Amino acid sequence: MARLRTVYICTECGHEHPKWTGQCAGCGAWNSLVEDVVGDAPAAPAKRAAARPASAPVSLNNVDASTTRATPTGISELDRVLGGGLVPGSVTLLGGEPGIGKSTLLSQVVGRWPDRSLYVSAEESTDQVRLRASRLGVSNDNALLVSLSVVDDIIAAIDAASPTLVVIDSIQTIADTSVGSAPGSVVQVRECAHRLVQEAKARSIAVVLVGHVTKDGSIAGPRLLEHVVDTVLSFEGDRVHALRTVRAMKHRFGSTNELGLFEMTADGLRDVPDASTLFLADRQRGIPGSVVVPVLDGHRPLLVEVQALTTKTTSGVPPRRSSQGLESSRLAMLLAVLDRRAGCSLSAHEVFVSVVGGIRVSDPGADLGMCIALASSLRDVAVDPTITCIGEVGLGGEVRHVAQIERRLGEASRLGFATAIIPASASVRAPQGVKLVKVASIGEAITRAM
Ligand code: TYD
Ligand code: MG
Repeated sequence: MARLRTVYICTECGHEHPKWTGQCAGCGAWNSLVEDVVGDAPAAPAKRAAARPASAPVSLNNVDASTTRATPTGISELDRVLGGGLVPGSVTLLGGEPGIGKSTLLSQVVGRWPDRSLYVSAEESTDQVRLRASRLGVSNDNALLVSLSVVDDIIAAIDAASPTLVVIDSIQTIADTSVGSAPGSVVQVRECAHRLVQEAKARSIAVVLVGHVTKDGSIAGPRLLEHVVDTVLSFEGDRVHALRTVRAMKHRFGSTNELGLFEMTADGLRDVPDASTLFLADRQRGIPGSVVVPVLDGHRPLLVEVQALTTKTTSGVPPRRSSQGLESSRLAMLLAVLDRRAGCSLSAHEVFVSVVGGIRVSDPGADLGMCIALASSLRDVAVDPTITCIGEVGLGGEVRHVAQIERRLGEASRLGFATAIIPASASVRAPQGVKLVKVASIGEAITRAM
């Protein structure tokens, strides 16, 4: 019988402390310790490790690359993010808020998996999962379903089924019985993940772990697991909007800057290959404060509408700044530049900015559009709806070059924009039907736009 003791574990790095302290001794994070009860280190892990043959060193030239070739999931937006598909022997963590659609996406993945797959649900009964799958039109004899929550049982089920893909839904609801703490605790999550990672590597199967995160990214698990797994996917979106985005926060087998776009529909998640059209569908033309900008997410240009609304404050308190889809520090910087370099002072105005469609924009190429939207709202003059603008704004009020202007212009041309305001330093050819207006400063850009 294992002796139980109380420890304090950092949710950021997993460091164990015998006593509670305000700051983690492992990584220096503040207020990150949570109480946990653990048993004395079980003897089992040592035995497990010894049972496995140690791998002998091989020359880099002789490594067999075919075993790391990704298997496409058949869901094109997910494959785009993964750079082709799921790699055998890899562990992927799919993190997201409850209700965002993780189980839905993975049910669709097992439905299309070309080989045998095992969906382990520890949260829902087999019937519930089957009901969802049939609603999604999943009918795949090779997709096996089981409702289990003990790691040893899950490994036994993997033994029995020999799948090439295993989905664990979710990592917070499974437990290793040799660990004396509750499912979802830091110790359990870490131990279970470690065991599943070992299984994935030893059997060369792809494992996908579902991890719930709350709004502030807390809850034992996902943050801590980032070091253990090969790939971390973040599933985001506004539950009120149908749009969902998947992006890789960490990816050992490819780039991390591709964005996957989905729409939640009555029959599951649907790929959104032409996002620009979707984002601009409800656009109202001729309203002050609205500008369409081509932003780059990964390799894909997207046209999004940025909106600004400014109103004069009447109270004495500092005016409100609210931003949705754009970092608030970026907005503060742009407001300062507008004030000092373009004579557009918003210090007595409340400012609301938003990127339409629930998407988050971190591309600096949207700066110029945001500034023009703000100036347009302040002056109450609409920007010509056939104008789009591209450029980063510097602290000197200069308009700077950004990456891949030609691709952005191509997307603007495809959706019928007639004029593009771009940085003066950009030497690009105008695509069919688009007139280029080159500007060097933010002041010049505002004059040309309105
Ligand atoms: P779910 O995949 O269960 O979320 P998670 O596993 O991330 O907690 O799905 C959550 C929501 O998606 C649920 O509120 C209902 C909705 N939904 C649809 O709109 N269409 C569908 O086809 C399915 C299966 C779910
Ligand atoms: Mg779920």
